[in-house]
Amino acid sequence: MQVGFQPDKKNRGLFMELTVKYIKDKTKNFKPELAIVLGSGLGDFADEFDSVALPYSEIPGFHKSEVQGHKGRLIFAEISGKKVVIMQGRYHFYEGYSMQTATYPIKVMKKLGVKTLILTNAAGSIRSDFTPGDLMFITDHINNMGSNPLIGANDETLGTRFPDMSEVYKKDLIEKAEKAAKELNINYQKGIYVATTGPSYETPAEIQAYKTWGASAVGMSTVPEAIVANYCGIKVMGISCLTNYAAGVSNSPLNHQEVIDTAARVKNNFKKLLLKLIEVI
Ligand code: HPA
Repeated sequence: MQVGFQPDKKNRGLFMELTVKYIKDKTKNFKPELAIVLGSGLGDFADEFDSVALPYSEIPGFHKSEVQGHKGRLIFAEISGKKVVIMQGRYHFYEGYSMQTATYPIKVMKKLGVKTLILTNAAGSIRSDFTPGDLMFITDHINNMGSNPLIGANDETLGTRFPDMSEVYKKDLIEKAEKAAKELNINYQKGIYVATTGPSYETPAEIQAYKTWGASAVGMSTVPEAIVANYCGIKVMGISCLTNYAAGVSNSPLNHQEVIDTAARVKNNFKKLLLKLIEVI
């Protein structure tokens, strides 16, 4: 049994109305155009802005997020003249949430008026010519999670039953990110992200297989959110912080502390890039 609420078709709209009303009341009808999901290690990005912060545990329809290094708050702030909503911590499939529950906040963003979403994450590098600490702009993804967040009755007010996925990660956003990274003198890579459910890391054999599929990075998030955002007509940009070599790419065993440590090491560059992106997107 997966935890997380799964309103039936009849009640779903009602839940969404409650969530959106709560947020609008608490934020004095703030209308974000841009959304950012902060991955491992980036959690404090939002701390320095004057903002309204709503803990997930207090938002109707949201769940408490439990992962180490994540705070679990929705932050509303005006940054460089842009109205931004930031997810400080996300829901993961491996926590036991259904994909539908894990991506509920993306649908809420759509209802709040969000047009563009920047998804960030920590990921393992499948390529030996990339270096832990590099940022990678996601050009496409492979969903190897064995499920899809759009399974279930379709809500036609959000999107179509069989959405096209030929350009989820928008080229114009990647170009803007490349330009921003060059201006800031930040090294970057581009590549395909493959998502696994986790929470166990991959075996070297799995990583070899993903390599033959064309993947450059592997992680346990982002793809469900990207699928739902694309379905809702939200433009997606994805940025991975390559925190480690994936299993078998180097000789060392993997551990979560390495992920946290590398993410912390490149945090400042990542923040600079995000700030610039907020400005130019
Ligand atoms: N595999 C899966 N998820 C990850 C990794 C990895 O090597 N590093 C950070 N998140």
